[in-house]
Amino acid sequence: MDFPAYAPSEEHELLRGTVRELADAKIAPFAAEVDEESRFPREALQALVANELHAVHVPEVYGGAGADALATVIVIEEVARACGSSSLIPAVNKLGTVPVLLAGSEELKKKFLGPVAAGEAMFSYALSEADAGSDAAGMKTRAVRDGDFWVLNGAKMWITNAGESKYYTVMAVTDPGAGARGISAFVVDSDDAGVSFGPKERKLGIKGSPTRQVILEDVRIPADRIIGAEGSGFKTALATLDHTRITIAAQALGLAQGALDFALGYVRERRQFGKPISDFQGVQFMLADMAMRLEGARQLTYHAAVKSERAMRGERVADLTFVSSACKTMASDVAMDVTTDAVQLLGGYGYTRDFPVERMMRDAKITQIYEGTNQIQRMVMARRLLK
Ligand code: CAA
Ligand code: FAD
Repeated sequence: MDFPAYAPSEEHELLRGTVRELADAKIAPFAAEVDEESRFPREALQALVANELHAVHVPEVYGGAGADALATVIVIEEVARACGSSSLIPAVNKLGTVPVLLAGSEELKKKFLGPVAAGEAMFSYALSEADAGSDAAGMKTRAVRDGDFWVLNGAKMWITNAGESKYYTVMAVTDPGAGARGISAFVVDSDDAGVSFGPKERKLGIKGSPTRQVILEDVRIPADRIIGAEGSGFKTALATLDHTRITIAAQALGLAQGALDFALGYVRERRQFGKPISDFQGVQFMLADMAMRLEGARQLTYHAAVKSERAMRGERVADLTFVSSACKTMASDVAMDVTTDAVQLLGGYGYTRDFPVERMMRDAKITQIYEGTNQIQRMVMARRLLK
């Protein structure tokens, strides 16, 4: 019997060491400032690009590093351990490009993946709208064929890294009577006439990652910018999320690890009742539970990453949808609990901006909401179980 192994290889662990060192030196020092000022983490982008870690998943044939899904997870995890906002650079570059990788023509891949691999452009993913979040198929943005062009009109909401990304995978209705089968996916360039961005949302966390509307007013794009066949866009969008919910789990793991590591250092230093608070069993049991739950979520996420990689290479992986939703749900719930417990372990100090754990707790919350809320993940998992 051949059991698939999902333990990280020596190479994966070497990569983790490299990214951790880089993140500690070049990303962590700006994390508090990026949060405080709600500004894009440009230092992190520069450091990631300089070390070719901004979009490691892009295959070598399109100029990328060709890293597997587990390596991509490790990169995102280690960046998130230092700064949640910065981890959305590699995560969203993957989210934006997977539709092209899964369903795009060879011409689209060649044209749009190269600049991402080279660090010249970022790629965002635009599915959600103001009135179509969980019910993504209820979108209203329209694409109408006009000769050799498609003309797009509408507004996509909550788009991560909007304004910073050059390219956008945009899902739009091409056949209004056909429901989910009437949605198509397109590549839109921020330089296309008629593209503009709404103001930045004012958020609880991941404040360094801009979240804005992408507004499309008579945006006329060449017909060959469609990703896959007309009407296949919703399936491509969901198939993409099967791969990328794993990257949100990775972000959640990194945030939780960052908070746990900080708390571990703190409890050894902080003294009450004449001894370090780490001597108290009540504190030790909290630490043990935090680390145990985090490791459980990490194992499930790595397991899902290996399945994602096999699927990307063309293998049929029947339970990818399930494990992807499962690891995103588990890791994000663990991240919320672990970061909250880290604040608790720092007491009053944990509640202040003088320490990073309150930021990690605020950043963790989003992982339970985006790429499908955890209720939607539970719906996806239950549908698979009951099918
Ligand atoms: N892969 C491929 N195709 C799939 C699929 C999958 N995983 N799941 C379903 N499909 C197909 C179905 O087979 C169906 O096709 P047919 O009509 O040909 O049979 C079609 O897609 C529609 O499927 P459903 O009927 O199940 O669709 P639904 O309208 O009930 O919606 C849903 C399903 C799971 C609720 C989906 O809308 C969903 O995932 N909602 C959450 C939205 C979401 O995750 N948004 C993320 C935005 S990105 C983001 O947030 C980025 C970021 O944070 C950084
Ligand atoms: P709603 O769908 O209105 O949900 C509200 C509540 O109802 C939730 O608790 C939900 O779980 C619950 N609910 C809804 N339907 C059901 C049901 N059937 N059963 C049980 N409970 C249900 N989208 C993109 O396309 N691209 C991006 O880059 C992107 N980035 C984002 C970044 C941020 C910071 C945020 C906040 C959002 C981002 N999103 C993005 C959108 C995100 O995916 C949606 O916010 C999310 O899918 C939820 O949609 P909604 O906000 O409309 O909530």
